[in-house]
Amino acid sequence: MLQKIQETAEFLKGKMTTAPETAIILGTGLGSLVNEITDKYEIEYKDIPNFPLSTVEGHSGKLIFGKLGGKEIMAMQGRFHFYEGYSMKEVTFPVRVMRELGIKTLFVSNAAGGMNPDFLIGDLMIINDHINFFPEHPLRGKNIPYGDRFPDMSAAYDKELIAKAKEIAAEKGIRIVEGVYLGTQGPTFETPAEYRMFHRMGGDAVGMSTVPEVIVARHCGIRVFGISVITDLGVEGIVVECSHEEVQKAADEAQPKMTTIFREIINRA
Ligand code: HPA
Repeated sequence: MLQKIQETAEFLKGKMTTAPETAIILGTGLGSLVNEITDKYEIEYKDIPNFPLSTVEGHSGKLIFGKLGGKEIMAMQGRFHFYEGYSMKEVTFPVRVMRELGIKTLFVSNAAGGMNPDFLIGDLMIINDHINFFPEHPLRGKNIPYGDRFPDMSAAYDKELIAKAKEIAAEKGIRIVEGVYLGTQGPTFETPAEYRMFHRMGGDAVGMSTVPEVIVARHCGIRVFGISVITDLGVEGIVVECSHEEVQKAADEAQPKMTTIFREIINRA
């Protein structure tokens, strides 16, 4: 495992002409941030040794390197989901490679269903904590010596970056909410009873990603900031019908706001 991670990192280092310390994982329908990256160069997943291939529509599958907010960054356009059949080790493989590449801060994004009755479709939710509802833990198995066997999760989402995001949102007049992301395997969207259960369990938004990558990033000592774009509502009494197309449409409309927040945090870091 470690050998594979290092092999992939060596391959990428051989292609990279920059040395980013910031990485971004782009969620469903949230790929347009890449249009703001300058001095860009790209490497397709299919050309990267040991990288899994992305299969879902709306995820094109490449690493993009360049500058955003005046800093060198790398972005993953397309992530690996557990529901696609990948193992948790495959889902989180790129994060461990990032660690080998010298990444210190990870920005994660996703499309999610809002369960908090105060949320509206199109809202950005700062993830301030998560609930891991995946059936397999990403750190199950022999501990990889990037971190502790029993890693702390008391502050998985960086408080300083959250404060900065709120400041930027207020300054730019962007409505922003905050809450707990509950990660579940999918690929079904929730039944009304499941939304109700997840909300009562403490989730404000629900989605099918992010939690594995964040756990592995924290295990590696990488700082994390995350945003969920609320693309549909699973609020008691107003559960809306939900399709992948609707999720993509709502994400597409909200993505400029998310790009602004990410870019400004990176710029001011
Ligand atoms: N549930 C799970 N995943 C999602 C949702 C949802 O309502 N919306 C976008 N991704």
